[in-house]
Amino acid sequence: METQKKILLTGGLGYIGSHTATVFADAGYDLIIIDNLSNSHEDTLEVLKKLCPSKIKFYDADLRNYEDIEKIFEKHALEIWFVLHFAAKKSVGESCQDPFLYYDHNINGSINLLQAMEKTGVKNIIFSSSATVYDSENILPPFTEGDRTRTINPYGTTKLMIEQLLRDMVMHKWFNAIALRYFNPIGAHPSHEIGENPKGIPTNLLPFILRVVEGKIDKLEVFGDDYDTPDGTCIRDYIHVMDVAEAHFAAARYLHERNLVNETSDMYTAEPIFETVNVGTGYGKSVAEMIAIVENVVDTEVPHVVVGRRSGDTPVSLANPLKAKKLFNREAKRTIMQAVEDARNYLQITKKISE
Ligand code: UD1
Repeated sequence: METQKKILLTGGLGYIGSHTATVFADAGYDLIIIDNLSNSHEDTLEVLKKLCPSKIKFYDADLRNYEDIEKIFEKHALEIWFVLHFAAKKSVGESCQDPFLYYDHNINGSINLLQAMEKTGVKNIIFSSSATVYDSENILPPFTEGDRTRTINPYGTTKLMIEQLLRDMVMHKWFNAIALRYFNPIGAHPSHEIGENPKGIPTNLLPFILRVVEGKIDKLEVFGDDYDTPDGTCIRDYIHVMDVAEAHFAAARYLHERNLVNETSDMYTAEPIFETVNVGTGYGKSVAEMIAIVENVVDTEVPHVVVGRRSGDTPVSLANPLKAKKLFNREAKRTIMQAVEDARNYLQITKKISE
């Protein structure tokens, strides 16, 4: 693989960005990280510098400020092999309360990023999309990339719109783009020095349960046990965050090996590529099963109470992981138990529970 080139990560100090940073760094790539620290922690940068064998250049910048982004690309364009675009707002509830905020950060931010890339001849991008783009009310799990898409909240809509924007950049501006549709990433880096540590009260299941375990929150509210599933609670495709991180590397390698990446930026030897690819395991766990797994790992009961359904929840979300296997020759390797243990160890060892 290309060794001199660098990887630019937007949102590289966030949960998935920081784990992916370590994978590329371990493979020998220097990193350029852009992050506005809105939902990440500055000390993650110091930890990354310690964990990563390669060099890291950090920019505290917001994708919504085009001039700042253009300057960064003007400075580094010739060195950049891939852009990994993680930076986004990602809370479904918040997006329904304030759609403009989501369109501003996610859409305007992505337009600025793509414009700066286009202007400086950087054309390879891997984008963090989400399983939320699937029309889960009208298709049957497992979800396959060709299945119908439809969104029911502004967060999901921004992800789908960015996928479409990328498709147009590929068709008309010779970009190469892969949109990775994440299912439910959980867990932490094996060093347990980086992990998931959202600011404020978490909305995702595992971080919430772990706060209950730490005694920071009294009990978990289980959103509905009357779904048409074996135990009545919703089923999700949880995947270890290091498997998600490695999927980015596999995607980059795929584009590289297809000979689509040319160092002289504007010249390509083959048709440009656009792909959407699921990042999941194909196996599901229910909320009740997740509680049992955590109880097993921490050896204590997780207080919980069943409440009403959360609006917008789909009963079963599962990936068909075959396209990732076929294109990238890779599949998830780690277990859910491992992910829960890693998440727990990260929080315990680093005492990272946000108040
Ligand atoms: C959610 C978003 C999804 C987004 C992803 C990002 C919704 C409907 N979906 O996925 O669009 O891409 O986060 O991380 O918000 N649960 C409880 N109690 C809790 C929290 C969760 O019972 O306190 C249940 C939920 O009902 C769900 C499961 O746990 O069945 C997983 O929830 P969560 O971790 O929020 O993930 P998703 O809803 O799958």
